[in-house]
Amino acid sequence: MIVLGVESSCDETSVAVVRGSKKILSNIVASSLKIHSKHGGVIPEIASRMQLESIASVFNQAVKKAKINCKDIDLVSVTSGPGLPGSLLVGISFAKALALSLGKPVIGVNHIYSHVYANLLCHRNIKLPAVALVVSGGHTSLFYIKDFADFSLLGETLDDACGEAFDKVAKIMGLGYPGGPLIEKLAEGGNRKKIKFACSGMNNEMDFSFSGIKTAVFYYLKGKKIGPGLKKDLAACFQESAVNTLIRKSLVACKHKKSAVLLIGGGVVANGYLRQKIYSKAKEAGVVCYFPDTNLCMDNAAMVAALGSYLYEKGKRSSLNLNIELS
Ligand code: KG4
Ligand code: ZN
Repeated sequence: MIVLGVESSCDETSVAVVRGSKKILSNIVASSLKIHSKHGGVIPEIASRMQLESIASVFNQAVKKAKINCKDIDLVSVTSGPGLPGSLLVGISFAKALALSLGKPVIGVNHIYSHVYANLLCHRNIKLPAVALVVSGGHTSLFYIKDFADFSLLGETLDDACGEAFDKVAKIMGLGYPGGPLIEKLAEGGNRKKIKFACSGMNNEMDFSFSGIKTAVFYYLKGKKIGPGLKKDLAACFQESAVNTLIRKSLVACKHKKSAVLLIGGGVVANGYLRQKIYSKAKEAGVVCYFPDTNLCMDNAAMVAALGSYLYEKGKRSSLNLNIELS
């Protein structure tokens, strides 16, 4: 089965062609990030306008690179939410129009679940049930998964998402946008133990809160001029605290669900320090940890096509009435 995926939940416009639910034939991603970085964050109105302008050309590139004909497409899979409403509408409208013109089915998939499914595009031997951590600019959530059609929420952030905290701390430090990669780079060689930051405790041990640590960085810097060395240490200490929180809560969830498998997805998993530390801490706890290749951690349509294919095989269907789903 040839599945065409469409992803437009935030600032990216992505179209991919996947064979079955595993083999990527093409995965084109266009981003309006450069424009947003001038404003220090994603401006929804600009994002959706850029998506409207670029989606047809991204689609043409994806079909060309995959060396397929439009009539070869068996299913159109599209992110139906959560995400920015205007952005989602561009992808959904395009996917529905395409499905209608080809006389093929369309299926809407959940963006957060597709971040977890990205692991299936990179690893062949994943066994369920598993605990999953999704850690992106919009979400920080822990799930228990019996099947990729059956996610149960164990905990989530009560305020900022982890990626959002990286972005906000970078802004406070005057680094630019998006903050995640900039903080990771600056933290290299910094003293991770110099300043102690704590992520606040929660009633549910599997819930998260990142706004306190962001505020702590703000007050640490308020009225001070710090040199490049201390700036490095500050980035390293913030990163250390965020990473340790993600690891601790993921392992609590694994213990709680007696799961020896941890699947991780989302943009923050592009962070090399997080990847290396969570892998080794999970191993020590007897948990096998999987994450996607870095290009598949960020928003992309291959993961959307792959999950759509899986759900379609399981009997899930959407109609041409498909609408955005914000939660
Ligand atoms: O999954 P994603 O591409 O979009 C959402 O669905 O939100 O994630 C984007 C987020 C941004 O907040 C960005 O700062 C963060 O992922 N991110 C990182 C790194 N690369 C991207 N955070 C920490 N370290 C990184 N290397
Ligand atoms: Zn995402």
